[in-house]
Amino acid sequence: MKKILTYGTFDLLHCGHINLLKRARELGDHLTVGLSTDNFDMLKNKKSYHNYEHRKMILEAIRFVDKVIPEHTWEQKVHDVLQNDIDIFVMGDDWKGHFDFLQEYCQVIYFPRTVGVSTTKIKKDFSSALNV
Ligand code: CTP
Repeated sequence: MKKILTYGTFDLLHCGHINLLKRARELGDHLTVGLSTDNFDMLKNKKSYHNYEHRKMILEAIRFVDKVIPEHTWEQKVHDVLQNDIDIFVMGDDWKGHFDFLQEYCQVIYFPRTVGVSTTKIKKDFSSALNV
């Protein structure tokens, strides 16, 4: 069984997220998503619209996702890879190079981001639409 791991906040789910999750799952047989907790997001100066429990519920309903675990810190990745018996670590290429240190423990792949969509853009577009 080939096991994949990826991380993110996955707020206001969009086609970029789905493309990433689908491509990651297609690399093997089981996809674990490390989902940023609300506290961890705060540390990253992010504020999600949906809270952790709701984002988790939404991710768990996606057929490409097999398991969701909380991401509390930057430092937990090696532990998560070993604990979950991970073969391949995947992130979008906005993170290219950042997680190469995991190559000691598993394969590391960066997928090209889907162009033209992000949670930040959705929030901005809604906000400017409401201000017109
Ligand atoms: N992702 C992607 N293509 C996009 C947006 C995101 O492939 N257009 C990927 C990211 O590279 C990451 C995962 O989806 O591997 C989760 O990203 P996340 O930061 O939760 O989504 P964003 O839409 O980038 O959120 P934000 O705008 O708040 O940074």
